[in-house]
Amino acid sequence: MNKIHPTAIIHPTVKIGEGNFIGPYVVIEENVIIGNNNYFGPFCIIGDIGESINFFNSARKGVEIGDNNRFTKQVTIDSGTVLPTKIKNNTLWLKNAHAGHDVVANDFIQVRCNGIIGGHVELKENAKIFLNAIIHPRLVVPKSCIIGMGAVVVKKTELIENGVYIGSPARLLRINNI
Ligand SMILES: CC(C)(COP(=O)(O)OP(=O)(O)OC[C@H]1O[C@@H](n2cnc3c(N)ncnc32)[C@H](O)[C@@H]1OP(=O)(O)O)[C@@H](O)C(=O)NCCC(=O)NCCS
Repeated sequence: MNKIHPTAIIHPTVKIGEGNFIGPYVVIEENVIIGNNNYFGPFCIIGDIGESINFFNSARKGVEIGDNNRFTKQVTIDSGTVLPTKIKNNTLWLKNAHAGHDVVANDFIQVRCNGIIGGHVELKENAKIFLNAIIHPRLVVPKSCIIGMGAVVVKKTELIENGVYIGSPARLLRINNI
């Protein structure tokens, strides 16, 4: 069974599995598929049109969300324009985190408050984007990479697995061995 707050607005095409919580004022737009046991806190907006250059003409490929994901509040996950935007399993998105169109977020990634993930970015398993960090569109953030608070990852930033990055433009601080 799903718990859906009466103020949530859910497009009739949305497919929802079991055990999900959809909180107050959440908006879920067309072509969104949601698995099981996900939590959407107040004011999340899932599957609204991708903010690409062709904003008003962009295709709406929707969003696919797996299982056990938490979107605490005011998180925005935009619709894909080429393929669906994909949020896999066991991910965590804190207040005001944003995934642009066509993002792929793999298992166990975390995007903390105000983390901004540009369009077409792939976050590999266990990557962590800390407070207020920004990832340039179309980059791949490798496995277990940590992008420190306030960092700005630009096209030239060479990201490696387990790397911890800080600053603008982002630079390697250390390797995370934990
Ligand atoms: C990037 C981060 C993981 C590094 O942690 P750490 O390895 O323990 O680093 P330290 O605190 O020992 O700092 C090492 C150096 O990097 C600098 N530094 C650390 N984080 C920085 C950041 N985000 N931006 C710029 N410089 C930073 C420190 O000033 C210090 O500089 P110094 O050697 O010249 O004195 C951490 O600072 C960070 O950004 N944490 C964010 C936590 C977060 O977002 N939590 C979310 C809670 S909801």
